[in-house]
Amino acid sequence: MHTLSLLLLSASGTLAYPWVAGQPGVDSTLLRQVRQPVKRQASCPFNPNHKGAAPYSDKYPYIGAKNGAPGSQTGGIKVPADGDTAHAFVAPGPNDIRGPCPGLNTAANHNFLSHDGVTTFTELVDAQQNIYNLDYPVSVLLAVLGIQAGGDIVTGKLSIGCDATSRTALLPLLGSQPGLNGHNKFEADASLTRNDYYISNGDNYNFNGTLFAEMKSYADRVSGGKFDRNALAAYRSQRYDESVQTNPNFFFGPLSVLLYGAASFLYELFPSYGNEGTPDLATISSFFGAVQDSSAPGGWRHVPERIPDNWFNRRTPYTSTVEEILAMYLQYPKIFGGNVGRNNFNALSAPFGILENGTLPANTKPADILCLLYQLGTSVVPSSLSTVTDLTGAILDWSVGKLNPVFKNAGCVLKPDQTK
Ligand code: HEM
Ligand SMILES: *[C@@H]1O[C@H](CO)[C@@H](O)[C@H](O)[C@H]1NC(C)=O
Ligand SMILES: *[C@@H]1O[C@H](CO)[C@@H](O)[C@H](O)[C@H]1NC(C)=O
Repeated sequence: MHTLSLLLLSASGTLAYPWVAGQPGVDSTLLRQVRQPVKRQASCPFNPNHKGAAPYSDKYPYIGAKNGAPGSQTGGIKVPADGDTAHAFVAPGPNDIRGPCPGLNTAANHNFLSHDGVTTFTELVDAQQNIYNLDYPVSVLLAVLGIQAGGDIVTGKLSIGCDATSRTALLPLLGSQPGLNGHNKFEADASLTRNDYYISNGDNYNFNGTLFAEMKSYADRVSGGKFDRNALAAYRSQRYDESVQTNPNFFFGPLSVLLYGAASFLYELFPSYGNEGTPDLATISSFFGAVQDSSAPGGWRHVPERIPDNWFNRRTPYTSTVEEILAMYLQYPKIFGGNVGRNNFNALSAPFGILENGTLPANTKPADILCLLYQLGTSVVPSSLSTVTDLTGAILDWSVGKLNPVFKNAGCVLKPDQTK
């Protein structure tokens, strides 16, 4: 029996798990063949003139979220507000970092995050609430997972794209901080519009017009042009199947449940007035930075992500991310695990939270997904069939300290908070 405690005991980094090779159906010779190194991104933009996010003024407080604290929860607010020039769109320059997340790229382009893409925990928690009226617990959780994936718990800094360790870390010598492009931490395979890491020479962060066109074709076919839950459930299923067929290193681990949450943002957060609005092509292409261009691959060219004109955030906070994750997943249930060679998929054999034998139990409830998210934020997590994320005890303690207060009434078994 391979229990979570085994995972935790041997969590000191990228240890190979000897039992993986012994699992039924795993050809262990493939394990050695498929782990080719991938080229690192050549260089990461460096902006010598780092400016923090534009501060919120009393005149334009938005949801009123400040300093990492919860805001008023009351939305229906125009973003950017008329007259708030500090949060007007400014295209990123060659020295600014952008990455795999359309929601954060948009936020940086409007100075809700540092325009150079080197942001902070606090900026992230505030911006998600103030722009999108995402609820406070999920705002904190995503910021924690983001810092874990590629940032620094001491400085609270994070690059929203490539490795900017010299600017995010206090002591760069202690190791590199890959930013949100870091693979199989938060960034994962089978994304909506980004390539899988291993089959694209490490380009898991740029917008891909062919994939955007594919996503649009699902919106057209399934939901009459709307990027709604049904369309995205079908498209996510298709992306998974594509990765099984084409990516010898495809990995769909526990962290991949986040991809369903991100997909729900298309119809819950991006439309004007959120859930009351329509996730149509004009809205979605503005946030993804997609412009129709017959000479571009797939017919879609990338431009900087931007909040559509005359756009209002949700009136009420988005509090049902876990319900949407579960509803979308259940339309096309998938096995959690990974490929050991193309089209040779193996279920994750180590249990993680409620995941056992690579599946969610039949009676999974939204509350169980919530606790799974807590566990993703507070544990080492399988990051391939044979490794776990390289989180240190200090990082996990920091995360527990951030997450326990917001999960205290969620009914999850909480880890002891060592920061108190
Ligand atoms: C601290 C907060 C956040 C962090 C750290 C974060 C990070 C990420 C990362 C690493 C990805 C890539 C996942 C993948 O491989 O597919 C991603 C995808 C995505 N994020 Fe975020 N995100 C955050 C908040 C948001 C918000 C507030 C929104 C929307 C309002 C958003 C919308 C999306 C969407 C739509 C995708 C899917 C993109 C695609 O697959 O093409 N994110 N995010
Ligand atoms: C975009 O995605 C398609 C489909 O996965 C792939 O064939 C193509 O190589 C990708 N384009 C780029 C520039 O990575
Ligand atoms: C997982 O697989 C093992 C071994 O095949 C089996 O004993 C166990 O009952 C399975 N668990 C679930 C929840 O299906």
